[in-house]
Amino acid sequence: MTTADLPDHVLRNREAWDRWAPDYVANGELSWRLEPGREKWGVWDLPESEVRLLPDDLAGRDTIELGCGTAYISAWLARRGARPVGIDNSQAQLATARRLQGEHGLDFPLLHGNAETVPYPDASFDFAFSEYGASIWADPYRWIPEASRLLRPDGRLTFLVNATILMLCMPEDDGVASTNEMVRPYFGLHRLEWPHDQSVNFHLGYGDWIRLLRANGFEVEDLRELRPPEGATTTFPYVTLDWARQWPSEEVWIARKRA
Ligand SMILES: C[S@@+](CC[C@H](N)C(=O)[O-])C[C@H]1O[C@@H](n2cnc3c(N)ncnc32)[C@H](O)[C@@H]1O
Repeated sequence: MTTADLPDHVLRNREAWDRWAPDYVANGELSWRLEPGREKWGVWDLPESEVRLLPDDLAGRDTIELGCGTAYISAWLARRGARPVGIDNSQAQLATARRLQGEHGLDFPLLHGNAETVPYPDASFDFAFSEYGASIWADPYRWIPEASRLLRPDGRLTFLVNATILMLCMPEDDGVASTNEMVRPYFGLHRLEWPHDQSVNFHLGYGDWIRLLRANGFEVEDLRELRPPEGATTTFPYVTLDWARQWPSEEVWIARKRA
């Protein structure tokens, strides 16, 4: 597929992420340094020891990270014995990932591409993961079928996203915290365009997520609504601790591909 064939949201998000990549270097460097058991998730840095998002049995497993950015999660998976592959839409993000691979002596495939069409055969992976990657920047009606195609029977898909309820309360303006009122309709939630930076992301209502996952051969095993502890901090301006202590700001979907 040539660049001209890519959907407009992929091209727009590529431009945006190539521009934002320098802002993600420091977090990538920090996160690459986290040893097994010390991993941290999401905008509140919630410890893996508490939220337990990683399967126990990663040794020898084939994993793919959809929208890997600086690929720190794939690095964590490699240290736990998996054979990771990362795919990302931004060459600038992958440049950081490749430098960090060199610095940490870890080597795994990093592909530049769209997670909605991954150049791997059917049933190549045991575990597919996305943390604010394809899970919010790619169209779920394209990337969920692709994740299903890539997974082996009984494989697991885990993805972390902004909670749907947060997206209902997030104003369009840049740098503004989510409010205690809903600012957009729930029904019809899918593609959101952000005028201040021309990026596009995707969020669904809960019923739509469940129907989409089930229609693509998944059983939903869990929906974890993450709650930061008192005193937690985030560098992201769009949600306050007060908000996130009352309502879920982040959600993790855990689904298994039917055997
Ligand atoms: C927030 S980063 C995710 C990486 C990391 N987990 C993090 O939170 O920093 C979002 C990444 O998704 C990538 N991305 C956006 N759209 C994508 C697509 N269609 N296919 C693959 N990657 C995509 C971006 O290039 C960016 O590197």
